[in-house]
Amino acid sequence: ATEDSESITPSDFVVVANRLPVDLERLPDGTTRWKRSPGGLVTALEPILRSNHGAWVGWAGVADVDAGVIVEDDLTLYSVPLSTEEIADYYEGFSNATLWPLYHDVIVRPEYRREWWNVYVEVNRRFAEEAAKAAAPNATVWIQDYQLQLVPKMLRMLRPDLTIGFFLHIPFPPVELFMQMPWRTEIVEGLLGADLIGFHLPGGAQNFLYLAGRLAGHQTSRGNIGVRSKLGVVQVGFRSVRVGAFPISIASGELDEQSRSKSIRDRAKAIRKELGNPDKILLGVDRLDYTKGIDVRLDALNELLVDGRVDPSRTVMVQLATPSRERVESYVHMRGEIERMVSRINGEYAEVGRPVVHYIHRPVPREELIAFFVAADVMLVTPLRDGMNLVAKEYVACRSDLGGSLVLSEFTGAAAELRQAFLCNPHDLEDVKDKMQAAIEQPRETGRKTMRALRRQVLTHDVDRWARAFLDALSHTGAAGPALITE
Ligand code: ADP
Ligand code: F6P
Repeated sequence: ATEDSESITPSDFVVVANRLPVDLERLPDGTTRWKRSPGGLVTALEPILRSNHGAWVGWAGVADVDAGVIVEDDLTLYSVPLSTEEIADYYEGFSNATLWPLYHDVIVRPEYRREWWNVYVEVNRRFAEEAAKAAAPNATVWIQDYQLQLVPKMLRMLRPDLTIGFFLHIPFPPVELFMQMPWRTEIVEGLLGADLIGFHLPGGAQNFLYLAGRLAGHQTSRGNIGVRSKLGVVQVGFRSVRVGAFPISIASGELDEQSRSKSIRDRAKAIRKELGNPDKILLGVDRLDYTKGIDVRLDALNELLVDGRVDPSRTVMVQLATPSRERVESYVHMRGEIERMVSRINGEYAEVGRPVVHYIHRPVPREELIAFFVAADVMLVTPLRDGMNLVAKEYVACRSDLGGSLVLSEFTGAAAELRQAFLCNPHDLEDVKDKMQAAIEQPRETGRKTMRALRRQVLTHDVDRWARAFLDALSHTGAAGPALITE
């Protein structure tokens, strides 16, 4: 039910993210309906927030709609409206054509435009104001991701009573790259409004700690940051801000259980049949994003076919690609490239009624996706850079049969945990080809052993453990937290 914000009871636990967990969709007949939002952030956070009966502040995914406050049984959604111009400047512009490429190793050249920055500041202020309304006295507010890096400081100024956490879901870049950013000091100071700032990997946390000293002139701790341990500290006046590494994960137990169900097993068999019962099914599942290296795996497959190392009559690749950021120029360009590569491979190697690459440019329902994971013999996860990559973990969680192999880029956060996968350097095409071929030809017994080890990691490190580690550390910040260690 949609309600007037004045009549809603504020919450003790509030998540603030660019998107709500659901997107409002406008249908051609002018009516609207809600659908699940894209991306790993929503996958990770929605179950946690529901079980905590919290509030979620975010954008409903369409322009010029104020959906107000929506009260569900276990979750209150506060929608932050964005105008068409704000979407262009704050979301498509500063978030996805400046920050996204800068934080992903400048795979694409970031654009630094002053008007985008100004709107980013304004929209961050609006999110901070909405969060201030949603939060009860002394509540915990957890701000998410690169679109909202100024919110911690803005919110602290509005509500000094709150405990504020921030988590970055994408990589935090090397110092040399971050220094390109014209508003680098404002961003570092914005983040330092939080009590705890979380990154996926110790390296990113360490980069940030160094910049807090260099750009904002604060005293910082010196020791190495650990994984869920040995937090760094930045002394901001009388406040001690903690900095740590908390690798995100998935609801692995739930996924494991779903993937064992008869309906999913049957559907997986049916998928194999529909694909013509090939010997090997290769699978890619991604948002259609240039960071994901979809082009890398297509290039590698093409060369393996040209070299005669993969048999096109016995091998099929399925690429499921959710549309993403479709008005940002680099995404338009990349889509064209990928679709050209798909048709080229099929032009050379397909038979009528039997394509080598099946390409679906639309989100796949969750159950269907699980069935694809169960059906796939080789999962291809080849990003040039990725903060974590939940798809890799989802695949592993779905393989209770111990079947399947995972080819995984070294440049994902997941590679730090999934060491037994076929790790590859996506910039080295020969390496990608070798790992793909090895995964295709992996003997069954070796594969089972590897998958068992991967599953142990994913099943014992689930999204609850991630959230608990972060929120425990957050609850020990402030006056109760450890003092600055400078040795
Ligand atoms: P990102 O957050 O960059 O999109 P992740 O791999 O961390 O990347 O998370 C992506 C999430 O979106 C996963 O939960 C994955 O299952 C889901 N997803 C990705 N592609 C599709 C698709 N084509 N259809 C349905 N869900 C998808
Ligand atoms: O995890 C990275 C992330 O950018 C999230 O912040 C975001 O919600 C998701 O991927 C999907 O991207 P978008 O919201 O731009 O569609």
